[in-house]
Amino acid sequence: MKARYQKPLNPFPTTGYYGPDYFCDRESETEQIVGLLQNGQSCLLIGKRRLGKTALIHHIRHFLPKTWGFVYLDILPTENESQLLNSLGTALLQHFPEKDPLGKRIWDFVKTLRPVISFDQLNGIPQVSFQISQAQRPVMDILDFLSKLEKPVVIAIDEFQQIHSYPEKNTDAWLRAAIQQLQNVFFLFSGSQQTILSELFSDPSRPFYRSANPFLLKPIDHGEYRDFIINIFKKHGKTLRPELVDQMLDWTKCHTYYVQSLCNRVFQLDKKEYTEEDWKSCAQKILDEGETFFLYYRTLLSTQQWKLAVAISRTGRIFSPTSKNFIQDHQLGSGATVLKSLQALIDKELVSQDSDSEGKSYYEVNDVFFERWVQTKFGIG
Ligand SMILES: Nc1ncnc2c1ncn2[C@@H]1O[C@H](COP(=O)(O)OP(=O)(O)OP(=O)(O)O)[C@@H](O)[C@H]1O
Ligand SMILES: [Mg+2]
Repeated sequence: MKARYQKPLNPFPTTGYYGPDYFCDRESETEQIVGLLQNGQSCLLIGKRRLGKTALIHHIRHFLPKTWGFVYLDILPTENESQLLNSLGTALLQHFPEKDPLGKRIWDFVKTLRPVISFDQLNGIPQVSFQISQAQRPVMDILDFLSKLEKPVVIAIDEFQQIHSYPEKNTDAWLRAAIQQLQNVFFLFSGSQQTILSELFSDPSRPFYRSANPFLLKPIDHGEYRDFIINIFKKHGKTLRPELVDQMLDWTKCHTYYVQSLCNRVFQLDKKEYTEEDWKSCAQKILDEGETFFLYYRTLLSTQQWKLAVAISRTGRIFSPTSKNFIQDHQLGSGATVLKSLQALIDKELVSQDSDSEGKSYYEVNDVFFERWVQTKFGIG
């Protein structure tokens, strides 16, 4: 059976997944991950914030066999293993309706673990909560039960880095053991780059990537995104010239969420033909509206961190943040101060490290609109 998707209000959605028609490229990533899952291998999708990890998980689901079970859970709101169990239980009951024969078996099984099941008064969606302190055993029991079903089940756990903030310190270890033992249950973990990567490589005794194939998500190819955007406008009887799309992709650094946001705005203009002024005025409006939010960043940071965030934004990419020129130009104090602030900005996920096509490492701020706002306020350089 083909999955049905709601039509988005605007063909450039900035939240959610609306099916392949509104999804650009990611063909090779989808093909590889679907292929691995179909061969019984779990995967770990790592990527910068807002690059399209969650949407890609749903896209992958679209291409998995329709007979397979697929359970998605976003564990960002969870704070410990017990809440992870609640999240898993809830996702299961929400995914498998009780009236289906398979759903009935799953509901019956979850009920043997004696949870409190409540239903949202408005939409009837079930919510599960277990009143226990030790969650590892019931999670394993659920996974074990799923592995004995006739059909394979993929469990997608989004914002996976969250487990590192649990008070229990060995969640990844027993999950890893679960991955290795279970047949017919495969995992698709996903999370933001910095925390997962540092955890993966800082501790050789925890080689999670050996149990789940790691994928580092990159920005969508510029040319692919250009064609995709032009086509969507064309389908709606609108003409956006390639050179304008190129300018828009450069301005948003081809970073998915920011591209989508700008295109969404431009699409809203009641026009058939666009000029450079049109997209630029949309971009300016986005920055004006974001200003309160950008200024709020300042209250979250120390003076040194703010100065460094501004300096990195003005530069776009900084290859040597402790170089004499950079420090002098932006009056950042000493190299040691810069390094300390840089680590704080990385920990807060405001800045991330990346490498260019030649493998040279650089830093940039994650929020492209913040970067552009700083550049209009304080200049480029
Ligand atoms: N390949 C794509 N084509 C078109 N739109 C996309 C694509 N990937 C993601 N998007 C859209 O971009 C927006 C942000 O994507 P998404 O939420 O998946 O990013 P994310 O990496 O999960 O972000 P976060 O780090 O905040 O969790 C969503 O509206 C999504 O629909
Ligand atoms: Mg996400």
